[in-house]
Amino acid sequence: MDHFHVAIIMDGNGRWAQGRGLPRVAGHRAGATAVRRVVEAAPNLGIKTLTLYAFSEDNWSRPAREVTALMKLLGRYLVDETGRCIKNGVRLEAIGRRDRLPAPLVTLLEQAERKTARCRRLHLRLALDYSSRRTILDTALRLGNSVTEETFSEALGPDVDLLIRTSGEQRLSDFLLWECAYAEMVFTPRMWPTFTGEDLAQAVDEFHRRDRRFGRVACEDDARRTA
Ligand code: IPE
Ligand code: IPE
Ligand code: MG
Repeated sequence: MDHFHVAIIMDGNGRWAQGRGLPRVAGHRAGATAVRRVVEAAPNLGIKTLTLYAFSEDNWSRPAREVTALMKLLGRYLVDETGRCIKNGVRLEAIGRRDRLPAPLVTLLEQAERKTARCRRLHLRLALDYSSRRTILDTALRLGNSVTEETFSEALGPDVDLLIRTSGEQRLSDFLLWECAYAEMVFTPRMWPTFTGEDLAQAVDEFHRRDRRFGRVACEDDARRTA
């Protein structure tokens, strides 16, 4: 594996806050701090690409107040973190639709992408207004008849090696469906605001203990014996 790609479905902000008698938005605020922690920890764990699910296409159906607060928080994250990204060699990129995001947020995203374009230590991809089904469909339409599995995969981005979802839910919720074809999955009951660099390290350890077979048999000797 020459390009370790970890993707995280950052889930449980709302429940974490409600469990403490706080508004859901307080959970999203705490969630932003957790993002900072994992982005800092990731490069030291050999992670080259980190894709974080921050806002799904289906999340637009949440109450307007929550959506507005999330968009504001995302903007604030970019304002606060772009400098740190440059310093730490983090290349930031957004995936997903941009045409429905608030214009000031798009401007901040473009600035962050431009300023961090040459950073090479970690490729941080933020999935915003993201739907995997839509991305697959749009990519297929764009590539047209000449599409092959290779050009299609290339256009979508790297396959996911390890997918983590917090909050105890065990589903993909329209995230990286094609790219997760052979992803190892780690589900943790931890709510996203409490997720730490140590939790990420544990998930990565778990990943390294797994036997990825990609449809083959476990070991060559066994294969020969049963042939
Ligand atoms: C994840 O936490 C953040 C987003 C989806 C934006 P949730 O807001 O989904 O938190 P729960 O799942 O309701 O607890
Ligand atoms: C998935 O979480 C989207 C993000 C983490 C951004 P949701 O909380 O929206 O997913 P469901 O509704 O539980 O499937
Ligand atoms: Mg959720």
